[in-house]
This record gives sequence, C-alpha cells and structure tokens, in this order.
Amino acid sequence: MTRTRKPPRKKRRKPLYGKKTFGEREGGIFSPVPVDRKISRWKGKVAVVTGASAGIGAAISKRLVEAGLIVVGLARRKEKIEKLSRSLKEHGGKLISVKVDITVENDVIQAFKWIKDNLGPVCILINNAGILRFTTLVDGDAQMWREVFETNVFGLCVATREACRNMNINNVNGHIVHINSFTGHRVIHYPNSNVYSASKFAITALAETLRQELNYTGSKIKITSISPAGVATEMAQIGLEASKINHVQKRSTEEFIGLGPEDVADAVMYALSTPPHVQIYELKLHAVNEPF
Ligand SMILES: NC(=O)c1ccc[n+]([C@@H]2O[C@H](COP(=O)([O-])OP(=O)(O)OC[C@H]3O[C@@H](n4cnc5c(N)ncnc54)[C@H](OP(=O)(O)O)[C@@H]3O)[C@@H](O)[C@H]2O)c1
Repeated sequence: MTRTRKPPRKKRRKPLYGKKTFGEREGGIFSPVPVDRKISRWKGKVAVVTGASAGIGAAISKRLVEAGLIVVGLARRKEKIEKLSRSLKEHGGKLISVKVDITVENDVIQAFKWIKDNLGPVCILINNAGILRFTTLVDGDAQMWREVFETNVFGLCVATREACRNMNINNVNGHIVHINSFTGHRVIHYPNSNVYSASKFAITALAETLRQELNYTGSKIKITSISPAGVATEMAQIGLEASKINHVQKRSTEEFIGLGPEDVADAVMYALSTPPHVQIYELKLHAVNEPF
C-alpha cells in the first residue's frame, strides 16, 4: 500500500497590520505602537460642553453621556440642560448643568474651579456656544457686533485657556473641539449676518494658533475644528427668516435633507475616537445637494 504524503503546510505570514498596532511592516520601518481607536477610552472622564442647552451642544452632550462620560454642560438656560439630563438618566454617563454666561470671564473661571473641586480633571472641551445677531455692517448695531465677538471668540478663548490650564496641571492628554462653521472658511451670501462670518474666521485662526502653541510646548492636547454648513437648529431657522433667502428655505423643506445636530455630534464622536497620536485637525460637513 502506497501512502500519500500530505503537502507541507505553508507557514502563515504575519499580517502586515496587526489588530492593535499601526505601522508594523515587514522590514520594520516603524516600531509597533498599541493604539485604542474606541470612544470607550473616555468612559468615566469629564467633558465640558459650552452651549449645551440647545441645538448642536445638546446633541453632543447626549452622545457623550451615552458613551459613559461625565458631561458638564455650560449655558445661561440651566433649566434646559437639567431637562435634558433627566431624559438621559438611563445611560452610562451623566450630564451636570452649570449656569455660565460665556462672555463673562469670571463665570467660566468659577465653572472650571467647581469642576476641579467636585469632579476631577477635564479631559475634553467642546467649544460650541455661539450666536448670530441680525444687523448690517453699513448701518449696524455695534452692540450686536460686540455680543457676537464676545460669545463666539472671547468666550471660546477663555474656556480654552481654562481647559488647557486644567489639563496641563493634571497631566491630561486632552482634546479640545471648536464648533466652527463653513462660514469660517468662506464668506457666503447671507444677508444681515454682519460680523458672524468674521467671528468664525477668527476661530479658524485660533484653532491653528492653538495647534502651534501646543506643538511648541510639546503638549499632547489635541485641537479639532469642526465646520458644518447649515444645521437645523433654532439659530439656523431664525437666520434663514431674517436673511430672507427664500430659495434656501424652500429647498430645505422640499427637495433636500439638511444637516441635523446629530450629524455634527457624529463628527465630534469620530474626532474623539481617534487614537492619541492622530489629530483630526479640520472637518468640514455639508449636506448632499446643499444650495450654499
Ligand atoms: N445651526 C447652524 O446652521 C450652524 C452651522 C455652523 C456652525 N454653527 C455653530 O454651532 C454652534 C451651536 O449653534 P446652534 O445652531 O446649536 O445654536 P442654538 O441652537 O442657538 O444654540 C446655541 C447655544 O449656545 C449657547 N449660548 C449662546 N450664548 C451664550 C452665552 N453668552 N453663554 C453661554 N452659552 C451661550 C446657548 O445657550 P443659552 O442661550 O442657554 O445660554 C445655546 O445652548 C454655534 O457656535 C454656531 O455658530 C451652527
């Protein structure tokens, strides 16, 4: 009886990219680095969301609570955050409201002090609070211009400084996200929006300046700018009415689905899910077929 010999088993090659490593190549160009690509790495950590009482800030807060974070929502309408918090009772994390007017430096300082004394290190800051006031440049109300800059720019700078101080003292490799706008990269035809676009261009510059400062000091804190186009919130609705861009209003109800606050929250979650060595620096979000 002749015995047939089994062919020798082929040696299995190591996969080029291991499950938990990156840059592991044959020949070893990069040394393997373990990475965690999951949002769960933030579970139980403290995140601060400015403007958490409505629209995009409320949607981001909800997603963070669902992911198990301790979220501190800052806004003037504290009761709206409390209502949202009650609806999120079933989830892993929690939402705590702190009354803050972001244009008042001391309010922001006191809020971060309260967090330090009661909750611990801040790991994430979402700079979302923002306003749009309707007036013109040629014959406008200077108080409205001031309010927009104080909220969208000054408030964001103070919150960023307080978060960086907190992260540095606690040696935390945190993440700061600016909710910017597509009007922070391109001026669009948006009648009566006066200084709004300029305030968002300032955020584009502030994100880059912060990135450079962080790099210069060797900090591991990440900065992400997220720039959505029109998002269906109170601000957008009032904006469309005040600017009388009727063709946009018509399209947004009949022919096309615009972005919702949850879409921006998805983008934030994506940026936060990246491993510590990856920095999503700028994300632009547009709806398909958008008229802008
Ligand atoms: N909706 C859009 O089409 C769109 C597009 C691109 C970018 N964005 C940006 O996204 C961010 C959120 O906008 P949204 O559409 O969600 O607006 P929204 O629904 O009007 O909500 C604005 C939020 O900002 C808070 N806020 C305003 N002034 C504040 C102040 N002085 N102190 C503390 N909180 C303040 C509000 O809270 P209180 O009033 O309770 O204080 C509210 O929670 C803004 O930065 C906006 O520029 C919006």
